[in-house]
Order: sequence, then structure tokens, then C-alpha cells
Amino acid sequence: MSYPILTPDEAASYIRDGDTVSFSGFSPAGAAKVVPRAIASRAHDEHEKGNRFKVRVLTGASSGRIIDDELAQAEAVSWRAPYQSGSVLRRQINRQEVEYVDMHLSHVPQAVSEGFFGRINVAVVEATEITSDGRVFLTTSIGASPTYLRYAEKVIIEINRHQSERLREMADIVVMPPPPKRYPIHIYDPLTRIGFPYAVVDPQKVIGLVESREPDNVTEFGAPDDISCQIAEHVVQFFLGEMHSGRIPKTLLPIQSGVGNVANGMLATLGRHPDIPPFSVYSEVFQDAMVDLMAEEKLLGASATSLTITSDKLKQLVDNIDFFARRIVLRPQEISNHPGVIRRLGVIALNTAIEMDIYGNVNSSHLYGMDIMNGIGGSGEFTRNSYLSVFMTPSIAKGGRISSIVPMCPHVDSNEHSVQIVVTEQGLADLRGLGPMQRAKIIIERCAHPAYRGYLYRYIKDARLGHIQHDLIRCFELHRNLLEHGAMLPDLAHEDIFN
Ligand code: COA
Repeated sequence: MSYPILTPDEAASYIRDGDTVSFSGFSPAGAAKVVPRAIASRAHDEHEKGNRFKVRVLTGASSGRIIDDELAQAEAVSWRAPYQSGSVLRRQINRQEVEYVDMHLSHVPQAVSEGFFGRINVAVVEATEITSDGRVFLTTSIGASPTYLRYAEKVIIEINRHQSERLREMADIVVMPPPPKRYPIHIYDPLTRIGFPYAVVDPQKVIGLVESREPDNVTEFGAPDDISCQIAEHVVQFFLGEMHSGRIPKTLLPIQSGVGNVANGMLATLGRHPDIPPFSVYSEVFQDAMVDLMAEEKLLGASATSLTITSDKLKQLVDNIDFFARRIVLRPQEISNHPGVIRRLGVIALNTAIEMDIYGNVNSSHLYGMDIMNGIGGSGEFTRNSYLSVFMTPSIAKGGRISSIVPMCPHVDSNEHSVQIVVTEQGLADLRGLGPMQRAKIIIERCAHPAYRGYLYRYIKDARLGHIQHDLIRCFELHRNLLEHGAMLPDLAHEDIFN
């Protein structure tokens, strides 16, 4: 079967107001590009004519600027799942102009296949090739695209000529059958392959192909700052101690690394440390720091769902594909983030928090418990099922006006039952085996910034006795102060203390 070739505008004309559109992409990697841009332009035109035009948007995780900024800027998004990290969309969500479903990423394929979100009207998926019998070779991410291709009513394929056809050598794709027909997932090592290098679509559903030559445009991380390096050093020393005592094998365990500057810096520090052995990664995002570590054979292998790397790094990888393709497996997010596999492999989860409370509950997603930053992403499923769960954050933010250690988190993404190790540049608190009050003491002593320790000690001293001590009147006093006075402790002379 041959497929019609469409212009981006022709493809966009198939989208109707109110449609649910699922786009490929996990972060900017492998994201649909030219069709969502044409949808944004169509939305502008329709709005100028006084017509309503908004779509419900699904992707694998966050997306590139075209979906989370341009499409949002065109006021073309009414509903968004499962994760985002764009500033325009974030503002719209926090003003309740866009309904946002912030969810565990491995749940997305099942939620779609079981119809939890209703019908998927159109899928727009970036690929390097589609064969006449419906095999689709994806680009730099797998994400939820295999599920979108299977369950969407209509499909548009963006053929991206900029991307190398050899990216398929890393793909390992399966789509899980619905319960109760599920089978065990036979992954015993980060590099085990269990599927095919392509996703499958019914050719009859394909409306047409749109040509594209756009790169992913992944933003580069800055060099890790001093604070990130100090956090990383605490984690490395902790790993060395655990390996010495035999609680972590001498070969280390597969590492999952979260998103953001701290996480990228953490990985680079881990890889460069002379006493840390070569290790492997079982994570969701293959990021810049991993390319050099792999080239240096410090990173032995990596399982992920996306290659979220800058253009230079992608070129390095493609130019040396014979080397990298044997060491990287790209899986659907249902598998890369699968709780059973994470538990089986004994993954060590390293994620970043916005704030943590003195008992070890972690807020990764909502400022003051109200405004979304990005979302929970994969942090919850890795943390909950890991062999060891680590959360990192600088002890203060905004020049010291904010403490990242608070009496009670106003929003919790990972709770005290799943969080084992918390780290700031001040130090590391190992919470394993500790009851709530011991946790509070060690977190305040080792992780809180010295300027906030007195307040936090007084808080537990004055709080009501219980298994967990709290003062329900004052537990959010720091957050209230921040909203009302711009600082959690307005009387502190911040400039003197923190500069
Ligand atoms: N209250 C209010 N604002 C805070 C804050 C707090 N307690 N702590 C930090 N901030 C602000 C920072 O000042 C910064 O503001 P700016 O953008 O105006 O400069 C912003 O929040 C981001 O902080 P930063 O330290 O730069 O974040 P990061 O790049 O290290 O990312 C998270 C941290 C938590 C936002 C990010 O890791 C995330 O979204 N995590 C959830 C998803 C996840 O973990 N995915 C990975 C799973 S595999």
C-alpha cells in the first residue's frame, strides 16, 4: 500500500475542534513537529474567524516547544496529559485555562488502550520510515507511540529526513496485551531485548505522510554548579560506603536518573569518580552526560525510552552507531518505567525534589502545593519500586528566601514509605529503619540549611505529640509567609546569611 503525501496544513485540516490528538515524543526527543505547528496556525485562523478550536493533547511525557509552547500560545489546548515542562502551558494550567492530568508515565499506554481518556481521534507520530504493511520505524523516542499507533482512529506520520534510519537499531518494541492476558516481562539486564525494532499500525488508518527535516532541539544543560557538585559528592560517598559494607554489590546496581540540572550533574559526577566502577542505567531518559560516559566505557549499557540529547551529542552517537547501538536499548515507556522490572533489576532511583518535609515526604511537582512546575513524571514509579530511592535538592532556593526542607509538604508525590535517602548540599540523611522522629532529627541536622534549623527544631518541639508530631495550625506557616511576604522567614536578613 502506498500512502498519500500531505502538506502540514492538509494534515492539520483533518483535526477537528474537541479531538483528542496523541503526538509522538518523550521530551523533545522524537516529538511530532510540523503537524502540531500547522495545528497551531489553524487554531489562530479559526479563532480569528470567531470559531472555537481546541484539542486534547497526549504525548509520551513532556514535549518540545512546538507542542507545549507554540500550540499552547495559540490557545489550542483544552486538556493535557501526562506531563509537561513548557512555560506557556504551565501558566495556562495554573490559571485553569487548560485541564492537566499529571500522571505516572508507565500508566499512559494502559489508560489509552482501556479507554480511560475516551477515543483517540488522531495520532501524529514521527518516524524515519513506514512500510506498506504498516511497520513504523520511530526516531529518537519510543514513549507511548506504539500504543497511539495501535489505538488511534486515524494516523498521520511525520517522516523526518533529518533523523538517521539507523536509530531503529536501538528500538525494542512490544505492546502489552490487556489484563488478564498479561505475561511476565523477561528483562533480566538493562540490555535484554524482548521485542521488535518497529511499531505496528493498520495501514488503512493512515491518512498520509508529512515530510519534515527538523531536529529535536534539546536544550543543553549548563555545567553543574557548586551546589549540584556537593550534592553529587554526598551521594557518591554514600554509594562507596554501601558497596564497602556489602549492601550494594561491588558492581553497583543499575541507575535511574531524573530530569533537571541537578540530576544531569549527578550522573556526570558519578561517572567521573575514580572509585565508582563502570555501571549501567535503567532509566527513562538517555541524557547528554551519558554519551561521553558510554564512549569512555564508564557507562556499560543503558535502557531508556528516549534519546533526549543535544544535536552535537546525537551526531556523535549516530556517527558511532556501531558502538552505541550495542549499548543502548530504547523501549516503550510502559516497559522502561515498569514497576516489576525496576524491582527485579534493583534499580537505584536518583530524583530531584522541589521540597521535602522533615519526615521524608517529597513534593516534586507543585509549588506551595498549588502551582504546577512540571509534574511527577517517572519519579514516582522509579522511587516506589527501586532498591534504593534517593531524592536530592539544594537546601534553599531563591537566594535563601525558600527552605527546601519544610515541616509538612503541601503536596506529596513520593511519600515517606517510599523515600529512603534525602540529600542536599548540606549533607545526606539515610532514613532506612528510622521512625518519624528520628527521621525529623536527622533531616534537620544533616540536610536543612543552618538558617532554618532553629525554626524546624522549634516546630517539632512545640508540635502535638503523636507517632508523627505536627502542629496543624503552623505546619504551612513557612509557605504562608512565602506567599504573603515573599520569604519563608521574613525576619531573616537573607543577603547577609546567604551571600
Ligand atoms: N519553592 C518554590 N520554588 C522553588 C523551590 C521551592 N521549594 N525549590 C526550587 N524552586 C524554584 C527554583 O528557584 C527554580 O526557579 P526558577 O525557574 O525561577 O529559577 C525552579 O523552582 C526550578 O528549580 P531548579 O533547582 O532549577 O530545578 P531542576 O532543574 O533541578 O528541576 C524539578 C527540579 C523538581 C522541578 C524537576 O526535577 C522535576 O520536574 N521533577 C519531577 C519529575 C521527575 O522527577 N522526573 C524524572 C523521573 S525519571
